[in-house]
Amino acid sequence: MAEVQRPVRFLSSADLDTLGLGMGEIIDILEGAFRAKAAGEVTMPPKIFFHRGGPRFYSSMVCASPALGYAGCKWQSGDPANPDIGLPYIQGLYILTEDATGRMCAVMDAEWITGRRTAAASGLVVRHLAKDSDRTLGILGCGLQARAHLEAVHAVRPQFGECLCYDIVPERQDRFVAEMAGNFGFGSIVGMNSPQEVARNSDVLVTGGPIQKDRRPVILSDWIGAGTLVVTIDYDSYVTDEAIRAMNLVLTDDYGQIEDARRNEGKFPAVDRVDSTVADLVAHGKGARTSDRQRILVFNLGIALEDLATAVEALNRAERSGVGTMLPGPGG
Ligand SMILES: NC(=O)c1ccc[n+]([C@@H]2O[C@H](COP(=O)([O-])OP(=O)(O)OC[C@H]3O[C@@H](n4cnc5c(N)ncnc54)[C@H](O)[C@@H]3O)[C@@H](O)[C@H]2O)c1
Repeated sequence: MAEVQRPVRFLSSADLDTLGLGMGEIIDILEGAFRAKAAGEVTMPPKIFFHRGGPRFYSSMVCASPALGYAGCKWQSGDPANPDIGLPYIQGLYILTEDATGRMCAVMDAEWITGRRTAAASGLVVRHLAKDSDRTLGILGCGLQARAHLEAVHAVRPQFGECLCYDIVPERQDRFVAEMAGNFGFGSIVGMNSPQEVARNSDVLVTGGPIQKDRRPVILSDWIGAGTLVVTIDYDSYVTDEAIRAMNLVLTDDYGQIEDARRNEGKFPAVDRVDSTVADLVAHGKGARTSDRQRILVFNLGIALEDLATAVEALNRAERSGVGTMLPGPGG
């Protein structure tokens, strides 16, 4: 039988923007995806992540979910020097494959997906672990993720009204303050002079500095007040070993990836205990806060399931509304 051409839908960042897929919806989608993970319904080998000698890293992340009907793969690079040459820190593409047939269905902008799903995963953690009395979000690193995190925290805890922030590049910090003040319910966004000032005064602290081969962490345990929730999206780059060991609860989105990063990249030397995973938190309440004074640290390394769940929803919407560009695809 003659082989048929199998067209592939390409979704650019602009296409993805038109789909009306909001941050709150992505957080709910991830909540369902983490429940499926807890039920053992997801196949997800550890991501491949490596530095290639300099500061640039490469990573590939794969995942299959029969329940979602798809498997997918993200290939990306990251380099903290990119903004100096007008490129985003992280660049990537996502490939989506129909699980029933193995057919390659879509290629999409992974920068959009990563940008949204990372903040959504933090939002999910904030939904489950922040205190009702929390009002102040601290953010280290005033880039793309900082902006998305304001939206994600607002989606789950609209009572947050203050953001304290710090960026190692003062102009980026100033731009963030000027651009974001008043957005997503944050009436007050204040640039601080040091990460210490941010950490000491935050109810929820998000660390979004660069993930470098050689870590130079600075956050000490006495910078983190009683009851604070710390979510790192930069591995253990910002948090010292002493602070990690002092936390009452340590969680992660994927313990396997911590082990893998320890073995292959020398990360996480101080993580000698993980109390729960985000999947077990969401599905079974394991690792939930039991006191308003607990200091909780969550390593959100970013997992392939988050990309897959977000990409599948994007593709479903794009197919329904005819968004995207059809490419010839393999075969034919
Ligand atoms: N865990 C995940 O799932 C995940 C996903 C995406 C990105 N990330 C990580 O999140 C971080 C931020 O990503 P982004 O897309 O927002 O990058 P970005 O380049 O848009 O922003 C990063 C900002 O951090 C600032 N910065 C650099 N070093 C700093 C330091 N020591 N202290 C404070 N600020 C510093 C930079 O000046 C820049 O403004 C990166 O480490 C990235 O690898 C993690």
